[in-house]
Amino acid sequence: MARPLRAEIDLAALCRNYHTASALAPQSRSMAVLKADAYGHGALACARALTGLAPAFAVATIEEAVALRDGGIETPILLLEGIFEASELAMVEALSLWQVVHSEWQLEAVLAYRPRRPLAVWLKFDAGMHRLGFSADELRCHWARLRQAPERVTDLHLISHFSTADLADDSAFQAQHAQVRALGEALGAPLCLANSPATLQHPPAHGAWNRPGVMLYGSNPLEGMLPAGVALEPVMTLRSRLIAVRTLEAGEAVGYGGRFCTRTAVSAWSPPATATATTAMLAMAPRCWSTASAAPSPGECRWTCLPSTSPRWPMPTSAARWCCGGAGSMSTRWRGTATPSPIPCSPVCCRGRRGSICRRQSRRR
Ligand SMILES: Cc1ncc(COP(=O)(O)O)c(C=O)c1O
Repeated sequence: MARPLRAEIDLAALCRNYHTASALAPQSRSMAVLKADAYGHGALACARALTGLAPAFAVATIEEAVALRDGGIETPILLLEGIFEASELAMVEALSLWQVVHSEWQLEAVLAYRPRRPLAVWLKFDAGMHRLGFSADELRCHWARLRQAPERVTDLHLISHFSTADLADDSAFQAQHAQVRALGEALGAPLCLANSPATLQHPPAHGAWNRPGVMLYGSNPLEGMLPAGVALEPVMTLRSRLIAVRTLEAGEAVGYGGRFCTRTAVSAWSPPATATATTAMLAMAPRCWSTASAAPSPGECRWTCLPSTSPRWPMPTSAARWCCGGAGSMSTRWRGTATPSPIPCSPVCCRGRRGSICRRQSRRR
């Protein structure tokens, strides 16, 4: 294959990030979220690296779980969206999967199914995300029904997903957390609440289990800085050879919709994972490429080289690492840093995870 782009995955960094997540919550067990092919990092390789460290993995679909089992992964796996049809329960049982139940039809399917051994169920409460889950009244009722079916259901947990744990203004988070705590206490339920942001900045939300995802891959999901003393390492490094050199004047717009414009002259073009990422890289390039001496240190540039022209996506200020190779080659190392980052500085965002860069790219596809 001639495409001169490589994504290198640092599995040791993944494991160190996992250690960071679990060390932040010593009273909890941390299941590593490997959904969406481990956020584009390769689920099986990540699962193998984390085997023996993480007591469980979480994925979105049964296909993802099957791929891990086929790859020899025996660690418990939670299906975050549960089954998509009742016939999948046989597979859930055969593969010893744990399942979220967030809908009435799933509940009825579980209660109608006759397993050889009871199935682990994580009943989902909608604390305010309003994607999946039951209201408090529904959940109390369903919890009682599941408790009355020990031949079918075991290891009942209460799971919920915060919608605003990443924000600096924690008022909505506090309300959601208080609600789910009260519910959990009333039911005597083991809780699984914290995603990466809650793992990082809301220790009271740590439960019997936490579910860190994006932080494992090195991205700071917080609106603000990482807590003091916490560092995350980038897991993915993109390396590319330049395929063309363009020379643009400062202030010229680049790419679809002219959403980015250069602050300084630009002279680099590479074939990274997505065209919009290319745009970002191109807009970043000048300081380290054509005016390397102006970079803060050799091979380093600032995201501030990438001025978004849209007021909806203000400029990130965090640093990204940009290593210039020899003539005609370069590599990037994007770093989720401790500085405010409206667009998370990680190639995770190139893979459709989050941030304006990937959102705009996906609309173009
Ligand atoms: C239900 C659920 N839990 C946990 C996570 C992990 O979240 P994060 O990547 O913010 O850590 C996700 C990811 O989207 C999720 O959908």
